[in-house]
Amino acid sequence: MTAQAIPVRRMPFSVPDTADFHPVYLAGNAGFSYAMTGMGLYVALLEPFIVKSVRRVLDRVTDPGLREAADRFSRQEAQHYQQHERFNTLFFSRDYPGLRERYERLRGDFERFLAEKDDRFRIGFVEGFEANTTQGALSLLGRGLLRHPATDKALGSLWEWHMLEEIEHRNIAFDLYEHLFGGWPYRALMCWRAQHHMATFIDDVTAIMNPRDIREFGDICRITSKDRTLRLLSRAVPRVKSMLPGYSPHRYELPAAVQRLADRLTSQATSVS
Ligand SMILES: [Fe+2]
Ligand SMILES: [Fe+2]
Repeated sequence: MTAQAIPVRRMPFSVPDTADFHPVYLAGNAGFSYAMTGMGLYVALLEPFIVKSVRRVLDRVTDPGLREAADRFSRQEAQHYQQHERFNTLFFSRDYPGLRERYERLRGDFERFLAEKDDRFRIGFVEGFEANTTQGALSLLGRGLLRHPATDKALGSLWEWHMLEEIEHRNIAFDLYEHLFGGWPYRALMCWRAQHHMATFIDDVTAIMNPRDIREFGDICRITSKDRTLRLLSRAVPRVKSMLPGYSPHRYELPAAVQRLADRLTSQATSVS
């Protein structure tokens, strides 16, 4: 992926009215909807951490192409978290007891990583997350769940754009880690660490939100044992793959639909740089 293939799009998304919001907003599936709600909350704090972590090492990147790509990667992530902060008002407007506290605890984790950990940890952590989202994005877009008839159009579009750009910048954190540090065992450790950190947060916020939503909206919000099994599998497979010594995001063959989606989103953007 060249730097030019990482366009920074500013998107004109509208956040739905809080009064119209239903917690099962993706494909009529509770397990999937809560997983993406948790992810939307997680990335609003993770992605500022990505931007800061990458900017701290940019001056040490001696390959000009990688330096430009890393700058574009961090600018895409900056757009993502700003959009998610807007959409996350939907979840916070429901005033779930304990949600704000869990979110602030997550903010504290990233502040601590910035203050106390080293660049190798931070870039390793970023790559651990990116190795997961690339696989999740290809699966999500391939299954068409974000354009399902029972998917909320605004939230589906938000995630479609975000997942597409995760695919566009899939190589950059990996290349940064290899360029600056290298070393498989530590990369594998950080894949485990980052993906476990995200999964724990998503499980915690699901446990906070779900019981109240079941009381208010009924059984459609109930997460089934099949949902739980799928959630475990959708975590375990990418985690193991990303931890293997031979893992590289450069190996992915992208379906033609990915480029068509990229072109459509570029045409819908209010600006592209
Ligand atoms: Fe992102
Ligand atoms: Fe990303």
